[in-house]
Formats: sequence, structure tokens, C-alpha cells
Amino acid sequence: MSVRAVVRGVGHYLPERVVPNSEFEKSLDTTDEWIRTRSGIERRHFAAEGQTTSDLATRAARATLTDAGLEPADLDAVIVATSTADFTFPSAATMVQAELGMTGGFAFDVQAVCAGFVFALANANALIVSGQARRVLVIGAETFSRIMDWTDRSTCVLFGDGAGALILEATKGAGTPEDRGILATDLNSDGRFRDILYVDGGVSTGTTGHLRMEGKEVFRHAIEKLAKTAHTALDKAGLDGADVDWVVPHQANIRIITGTAKKMGVPMDNVVVTVQDHGNTSAASIPLALYVGRQRGQIKEGDLIVTEAIGGGLAWGAVVLRW
Ligand code: ACO
Repeated sequence: MSVRAVVRGVGHYLPERVVPNSEFEKSLDTTDEWIRTRSGIERRHFAAEGQTTSDLATRAARATLTDAGLEPADLDAVIVATSTADFTFPSAATMVQAELGMTGGFAFDVQAVCAGFVFALANANALIVSGQARRVLVIGAETFSRIMDWTDRSTCVLFGDGAGALILEATKGAGTPEDRGILATDLNSDGRFRDILYVDGGVSTGTTGHLRMEGKEVFRHAIEKLAKTAHTALDKAGLDGADVDWVVPHQANIRIITGTAKKMGVPMDNVVVTVQDHGNTSAASIPLALYVGRQRGQIKEGDLIVTEAIGGGLAWGAVVLRW
């Protein structure tokens, strides 16, 4: 027997405002066609003025609690994966905790940029299997529209805002790959590559700063590192590519998604793709895709899912879970 962190609920929130690619044609030397063919993105959501990451996260949290049939007091912990918290501190997670009216338990943020949700899932899993928490709300929430340089066509057309969440619950399993819940995790980072994707602001500059990316360089690392971490996580679980029902990748670029699936030996029919509708929502992209995948009827109870993501740091990783 072993304790598994099993998905009890899933939810999301996307801001109302939808921005199609064509809107960027008015202010930048770009086209809908370029954005579509180079990234797969067709539209994205942007938060309203004054709407913060913790607002988005709280809405996703409420939807997830409803899906799970739980109250805030039933949770032991709240983890928010984000790089765009409302303030330097407190954490977005404690703001969500307060908004939910939750006065017990604990809350903290995880900052691993686009890989944030994968890192947060691994943390939540560790808390659950070690007996430190029974139910953990894991949220990915971002407002990347706040850190865009609107004059930089190579970055500002790629990102969007949103939030998605899961509730993980301690459940007894047989200790086999047939168990529901998180079966394996694999986390990596390599700070030597910190300069190819970063924000040029923060405490050291006294400004919020803007996202800077050498897209081609990130691309060069992405497919190989993502396929390798997915393979390693599957290996740790005693499984391989043929066992996978759904790859739920970080949604940054359709060419990275297809390239990684090919390297993993998984057909695109078994990949949940939402990049066309959300753009790159960083740490929110995987929980948003999990939500959409379930809504579309793609993801069903018992399915084997691999999530994988890479982002600033570089930081990357994968989680294997049975839904
Ligand atoms: N519209 C029109 N032309 C553009 C645009 C635009 N919006 N942006 C760039 N271009 C131009 C470039 O200036 C370049 O022109 P040049 O050849 O005259 O210099 C040309 O298009 C080709 O640019 P590339 O950078 O070579 O285009 P590429 O095919 O590499 O696609 C992209 C760029 C989409 C950024 C891609 O490299 C990519 O997706 N990279 C990975 C990004 C990623 O995955 N990030 C994940 C982590 S995000 C996080 O952690 C926060």
C-alpha cells in the first residue's frame, strides 16, 4: 500500500477579453499569418485593468472547489505557481487563501516560470505522500500581459493571461502503475541558461521589468529537454510512451508540442492542444489544458497523462499521473 496524490477536482478561469492576432497588426509590423504559422497561436485572453493574478487564481480556486464538492476549510494547503504575483510579497497563495476565507493550513508560491505548475505538482505530491497534507489546492495563474514590452513583436504576440487548478487528495493505492494519482515526477534546472529567457526588472532594479527572450535559443533546448524529462518520468513510473493516453504539454508553441510528441513516440491524436486559444499562459497553461481536455471529453478517469514544461531558468520537468 502507498499513499497517492489523486486528482479530486479541476477548474479554470480565463479573463473575458479575447484578443485575436489581427489586433497586433494595428500597432506592430506583424501578421496573423506569421503568428499562426510560427507559434500556432490564434487568440489569447488578457486580464482587465486592475485584475490581478490572485484574482484569476481565486476564481479558478472557487471553480475547482465546486468541481470537487469541497469547502475551503477542507484544504490543508494552497500552492500557486506563478511568476507574476500581485506583489513582491506576500505570496499570491496567501492572498488566495484569504479571499477563500481559509484561516487554517498553509499557502506558498512556486516560481519556476513556465515549468511552475509541474514544480508545484511535484511539491504538492511530496507534501501528500510524506503525510504533511491531505488535500492540496494547486493553482497555476499568470498575468503575463503585465510584463510584456508592447513594442517587441518577437515576444508580446506569444503570451496570454489565465488560471487553472487541481485539488489533489491523499488516497491509498496499491503502489503499482495502475493506481490513480501522481505516479512519478522529474524536475530539472540549469541556471547557466538564465539569460535566454528572463525579466529585466525586480528588486535589484526597482521596476517590474519586461520579458526578454531569445526565442530561437529557447526553442533549441525545448524539444530535446522536454522529451527527455517525459521519458525519465515515465521510466520512474515503470511505464513508456506506448502506455500514455494523453500528453498535456506546456502550451508555448505548436511546433515545440508536435516536435516533442514525435520524439516521445506519441501521436498528435493523443496530445491536448489549447495553444491556439490561450497563447502561452506560462504556469497556467497545463492546468488550463487539463481542464479543457476533460471538458472536451478527451481526459477520462483512469487515463495515463504526462505533463511536461520548460521555462525561464532554464527550469523544466514532467509529471506522470493517472487521472
Ligand atoms: N511578426 C513578424 N515577424 C516576426 C515577429 C512577429 N511577431 N517576431 C519575430 N519576427 C521576425 C524576426 O524578426 C525574424 O526576422 P529576420 O529573419 O529578418 O531577423 C523572423 O521573424 C524569424 O524569427 P525567428 O526568431 O527565427 O522565428 P522562429 O521561427 O524561431 O519563431 C518563436 C519565433 C515563435 C519565438 C519561437 O522561436 C519560439 O516559440 N521559441 C520558444 C519560445 C518558448 O517556448 N518559450 C517557452 C518558455 S516561455 C517562459 O518560460 C516564460
